[in-house]
Amino acid sequence: MHQYYLQRLFPAIKDVTYLNSCSYALGNIKAQKAIETITNEWVNGQFDFMKAESYGEIARDYFANFIGVDKHEIAMTSFLSNASGLIANQLSPTVDKNIVVAECEFASNYYPWVQLKNKGYEIRLVKPHNGILDLEDFNKLIDKHTSLVAISAVQSSSGFKIDLKSLAQIAHKNQALIFVDASQALCAVPLNAKELEIDILASVSYKFLLGVRGQTYMYIKDELIDKFKPMTPGWRAGKNPMKSFYGPRVEYALGASKLDTSLSWFPVAGELASFELINEIGLENIYKKNQTLIEYTIQSFEDHNIDYQKYPEENCSTIFIIPVKDEEKIKNRLFDNNIEASFRQGKLRIGMHFYNEKEDIDRVCQLLK
Ligand SMILES: Cc1ncc(COP(=O)(O)O)c(C=O)c1O
Repeated sequence: MHQYYLQRLFPAIKDVTYLNSCSYALGNIKAQKAIETITNEWVNGQFDFMKAESYGEIARDYFANFIGVDKHEIAMTSFLSNASGLIANQLSPTVDKNIVVAECEFASNYYPWVQLKNKGYEIRLVKPHNGILDLEDFNKLIDKHTSLVAISAVQSSSGFKIDLKSLAQIAHKNQALIFVDASQALCAVPLNAKELEIDILASVSYKFLLGVRGQTYMYIKDELIDKFKPMTPGWRAGKNPMKSFYGPRVEYALGASKLDTSLSWFPVAGELASFELINEIGLENIYKKNQTLIEYTIQSFEDHNIDYQKYPEENCSTIFIIPVKDEEKIKNRLFDNNIEASFRQGKLRIGMHFYNEKEDIDRVCQLLK
């Protein structure tokens, strides 16, 4: 992946050390052009919503390919909490069931499950130890009364990447479903939903998928699609959305698109350009570059004696957490050196992506020394 090629696509990398992809992706020229085109059409009175709708369908197809599933298993909505809430809200009231969820989950994949207490569910929380979520802790809490296990593929606050396949197998051994929030993982680290035996997976697109805020995709395994009903259906939930503008007939789509909510047209246009870009570069090439960056970061932090949150190799992601003594001082240093990163729970969080280079890590090391 040539640096000149990346600089043409992501012009900011010439001046900025962008290590904040875990908050939102760095904007790219192709998405910007696509948004410019669609907004120009809008201003010129030439906006065609049918064309924007068709972008959504192509984006759905790309997303399905990215995670190795079929397009009919993908629903589109706006935010992660729409997806988790949609699933949580249809679990039936109970007197003896439980939900297992990590207590460090990002709120959008936490609040909807905790709310199920109101329907009689016991909420069993898994505690991380220095950022590590131990499968054994899940194993102890998941039992024949567990309805669902909710987990992030990569934790937003710690960068910890869990062994999803083993967790899915523990859930399935107990007839529980597994719901995965892949917002911090997709396009950053390899993830094939079928191979990992995931039941339901949702992801926002505006992080490592290079999307624009406003779209979330949700995979529901084919065998489970009939189990879930539209909760907030609009015309997009129809079997043929373009013929579903009005009543009296109600005929929902047969696939996961029955759970669609209306598209955000302009974000979808930008996002499609980004998905095309990912496809052009190739997911495998992105994963390879990211793996190189992960290994280089670990080696550099070790060489410079930088205190960072350490995990076994297989649990490392493109997100690293560095405890800092003086948050304000580090923030100022980052600002002065044109380094974009984020802080979570008083710790520095860096999120790398394929448009980063080893020199970006060198800069962080110099600053933290
Ligand atoms: C793991 C994870 N899930 C979801 C989100 C965003 O959720 P929502 O789309 O509900 O704002 C974030 C944002 O940082 C996140 O880190």
